[in-house]
Amino acid sequence: MIKARIAGTGSYVPEKVVTNFDLEKFLDTSDEWIVSRTGIHQRHVAAADENASDLATQASRKALEMAGVAPEELDLIVVGTVTGEFTFPSSGCMIQKKLGARKAFAFDVSAACSGFIFALSNAVNYHRLGGVKRSLVIGSEVMTRTVDWKDRNTCVLFGDGAGAVVLVSEEGERGILSTHLHSDGNFSELLYQPGLGASPTEPPQDHFVKMQGNEVFKVAVKALSDVALEALEANGLRKEDLKMIFPHQANKRILDAIGKRLDLGPEKVFSNVDQVANTSAASIPIALDHAHRGGKIQPGDLILLNAFGGGLTWGAALVRW
Ligand code: ACO
Repeated sequence: MIKARIAGTGSYVPEKVVTNFDLEKFLDTSDEWIVSRTGIHQRHVAAADENASDLATQASRKALEMAGVAPEELDLIVVGTVTGEFTFPSSGCMIQKKLGARKAFAFDVSAACSGFIFALSNAVNYHRLGGVKRSLVIGSEVMTRTVDWKDRNTCVLFGDGAGAVVLVSEEGERGILSTHLHSDGNFSELLYQPGLGASPTEPPQDHFVKMQGNEVFKVAVKALSDVALEALEANGLRKEDLKMIFPHQANKRILDAIGKRLDLGPEKVFSNVDQVANTSAASIPIALDHAHRGGKIQPGDLILLNAFGGGLTWGAALVRW
């Protein structure tokens, strides 16, 4: 059967770094609190003239170069993002323009922190149907523009960045084995950001991220673990077969808890949340690129990508690298 194989990865984080100590200067928080509750030490923040499509374009160029695919050869661009510079046109269209990917059709997927996995699943299905042979799947966010920098409950958690993968259609063992997506709108109030289309209220509503962190934490650990097992079972594979998993990088404590539930040692649960914080839809492709370029995954390895985010949404992709 034709599979979509990841032929290239790329990532980009903005130059500006904001450490926990920087936050201490204007917020009632501390490095000690943030590190012990989240594992985060620093986050990258986009420059004033950088938008999500700019970060994505940088990450995409690296992924395309690794894959040996020219932008004009792309059939499809799918972007997981909730922080595009326009409601429309989509970030996908802006990235298509910046890359010069003339032939590709492009669109965005809105699934908050699960955006990359939902985008990947979309692309995989186009590959399976046969009309798409080369695609670019991106997660890109400027979450630091969506938080209230006076709200210590949320602003310490997020960072900006982008990650991308190039998929090529191929016969054989390697590639994306399956994807598994879930949503439950009943939990929408745990994590949300009011949009431009919200009905007017008095006083007018702000557009900052709102989160019930404790509740999100509990649901996240269960959903991320369950969907990992679902993906393995669907392919007749076991936890022991996994080389490494790449969960959404929201919080080190969530990563540790998933490792425990799945009986995977810390060396099998990739983490870079200490350096980049929660970059929403960008977190998995950034993590994947860091691991890949760092030599942590080799052809033939079985890896799992699993995400969780506002919606609520969650999902996984099982990949034979
Ligand atoms: N610095 C210092 N104190 C803080 C801070 C801060 N930055 N933030 C909150 N506190 C205080 C709270 O005000 C509270 O004080 P109180 O007891 O006097 O009221 C106390 O710390 C404890 O607050 P909790 O919310 O109970 O702290 P908790 O241990 O749950 O940690 C956290 C909070 C880190 C947000 C945790 O719940 C978490 O990580 N949840 C998951 C959130 C997440 O991952 N969201 C994103 C996933 S989906 C997506 O990525 C969009």
